[in-house]
Amino acid sequence: MRTGSPATAGSVARIEAELARIAGGLDPRLYGGGVPPFGALGKASRSRFALLLADALGGPRRGAERVAVCAELAHSASLMHDDCVDLALLRRGRPTLNERLGINASILLGDLVVSLAFDEAWKISPGSARSLADSVRRMVQGALLEESYRHRRVSRDEFLEMISLKTGELFRWTAVETCGSAGRPELLEACAEIGRLAGASFQLADDVLDLEADPAVSGKDPLKDVSEGKITLPVILALEDAAASGPAAALLDELAAAPPGDLGPAMRLAALLRERGFTAAARDEADALVRRAFPLTAKFPVREAVPALDGFLLSLVRRDA
Ligand code: FPP
Ligand code: MG
Repeated sequence: MRTGSPATAGSVARIEAELARIAGGLDPRLYGGGVPPFGALGKASRSRFALLLADALGGPRRGAERVAVCAELAHSASLMHDDCVDLALLRRGRPTLNERLGINASILLGDLVVSLAFDEAWKISPGSARSLADSVRRMVQGALLEESYRHRRVSRDEFLEMISLKTGELFRWTAVETCGSAGRPELLEACAEIGRLAGASFQLADDVLDLEADPAVSGKDPLKDVSEGKITLPVILALEDAAASGPAAALLDELAAAPPGDLGPAMRLAALLRERGFTAAARDEADALVRRAFPLTAKFPVREAVPALDGFLLSLVRRDA
């Protein structure tokens, strides 16, 4: 995912340099010294999305880079909070901030970093800061819905609404702002929908990786969702299936009653989801969802830049980390 054209690499390097500059403005005592809690990009998915979208819209790379800086800051802040919510130990192959500094510091640093995102968005325009505040609110609503769904049987529509908020919102904001910087108001609605589809399908693939990925490649704790009672699409598909619903429901009940640290029911449920093809089916659904963006990107003005954007969208669901 770190590959791309030299122009994209140059833009990503500028985004990373800007994040490092912003991180360099923090008092190191706030994060225990060492490496600042943001600055280095992971997959840079939101940045690459902004850059490739700008190319296909005929917009300036510099405008997309400014949008990307805000998106990466908001994303980093959300992961600091998410890792506290999930009690995650590993992120990008390293101990999480909550593991290194404790939950309190990680929550507070997440607050600090999201305030930096608003500040950078305000420098684009007051309206950009306002819309980022709206999007962060919807992300939090998604995260709260996910909390309320733990160990519950939720419908596919409830689940899709939740991931569209939790993960789709920041991709949607990124797309809308990139469209704005490209001066293409007639394509705002199409961009918003492409962003939502990109984010939701990214999350579907992420949930499959929780069940399938090698932790050495993903850099995250394995079986985190399933062991925490999070409902994901493979679980919903198993519960919808006549043959699998009985054993899946029994394992979910066992999981809800299991003492903390007992990974047995989670491992058995994960095995069922993989062996009976529900992770593969969820990946296919992610693929179909992201492809719904293609009729929209086909209308973009710079036709020769659309294949790279479409290829990037597909890579969001075909990744192994
Ligand atoms: C990853 O979910 C988390 C998100 C996509 C966003 C979560 C949003 C919040 C915690 C709201 C707070 C937002 C801000 C900006 C302060 P995951 O657990 O499914 O993914 P993972 O496997 O990468 O942990
Ligand atoms: Mg998480």
